[in-house]
Amino acid sequence: MTMPTSSDQTGQAAFYPSGWFVMCLASDLKPKTVLTLPFMGSEWVLYRTVSGAVRLVEPYCPHLGAHLGRGGRVEGENIVCPFHHFAFAADGQCVHTPSGIKPPNARLIGRSVQEWNGLILVWQGSGDQHTPWKLPELDLDGFCAPVRGRYQARGTLQNITENAVDLNHFAPIHGWMKALMQPPVAEGHQLNVRFTMEVLGLAVQMDIKLYGLGIMVAQMTQKRLGLHIQLMMTPTQIGPQQWALKDFMVLRVARFSGLPRWLGNALNAVLARAAYRFWFVPELKKDIQIWDHRNYDVRPKLTVNEGPIMVYRHWAAQFYPAYAFAPEQQAATDSLRQNNLSATTVGWSIAQDNQ
Ligand code: FES
Ligand SMILES: [Fe+2]
Repeated sequence: MTMPTSSDQTGQAAFYPSGWFVMCLASDLKPKTVLTLPFMGSEWVLYRTVSGAVRLVEPYCPHLGAHLGRGGRVEGENIVCPFHHFAFAADGQCVHTPSGIKPPNARLIGRSVQEWNGLILVWQGSGDQHTPWKLPELDLDGFCAPVRGRYQARGTLQNITENAVDLNHFAPIHGWMKALMQPPVAEGHQLNVRFTMEVLGLAVQMDIKLYGLGIMVAQMTQKRLGLHIQLMMTPTQIGPQQWALKDFMVLRVARFSGLPRWLGNALNAVLARAAYRFWFVPELKKDIQIWDHRNYDVRPKLTVNEGPIMVYRHWAAQFYPAYAFAPEQQAATDSLRQNNLSATTVGWSIAQDNQ
């Protein structure tokens, strides 16, 4: 279990949560590619075999400790260590050595991975709180090809998912007016958020689904224009105070569906690239500017209309080991469990307490 560093005094943000998290884009990992990637405070080695299977393993060879990401190579379905050329199969077993003598107990430790919508995800377990959950199929029918980006920011990965329920930042940071939010609904590892707002004078509905802390899917619709945008944002904590974000945007305009398919796709793609570059990225950078210098306080002093932030935080707490919380927060979590209260109830009652 990863413990916080002594320099991290940010409460739950200093611990690593469980869930599915993005390691890289699937297109970054061609067959026979071996990558060394930071993930939750450690290095991991990700590789793709000749048949296309993806594996994520600890970086150090169980034989004599060479780093598999520094000169290791893929041969067929195996990864071969750069030091004594021992080969390890998908199940971690040593299956070949140059001398023919295999170490009886050498086994390479791996993690659960899957490919999902062009992303390679790894399962991060935290105690026995969760087992890997199934991710939904995204309906991308009629949408253009994704426009993708990647960023890094300081602090906790929770910055971006909490942003979705931080009603009071929409106007001052983004200029989105008249934001109205329905109470977020927590369903196990999923949190559903719905709000409406005005962007450039147009009414926009936003439906956001969080699948744990590593995957956020936002659907934006503007009825009059027949515009539908899907945004996927996947933050991954790579170190105690550093996280990486990969995102993609797809777009569909209803009236283009009457055009020849190639033309509709081309127009959707042009609009998506423009919306991503000239609208989404500048807005995201405004958030990152705040996140990079923010103290993520586990006991914020909220206003009466900010109950959704505590709904979010109570929901988010389930992904961390129980000892990750300060005593007061642990007491609140215990009380939540003992009284069988829903996170929504607690979130809104906290809002009332602040009145
Ligand atoms: S250290 Fe890897 S084969 Fe010896
Ligand atoms: Fe924001």
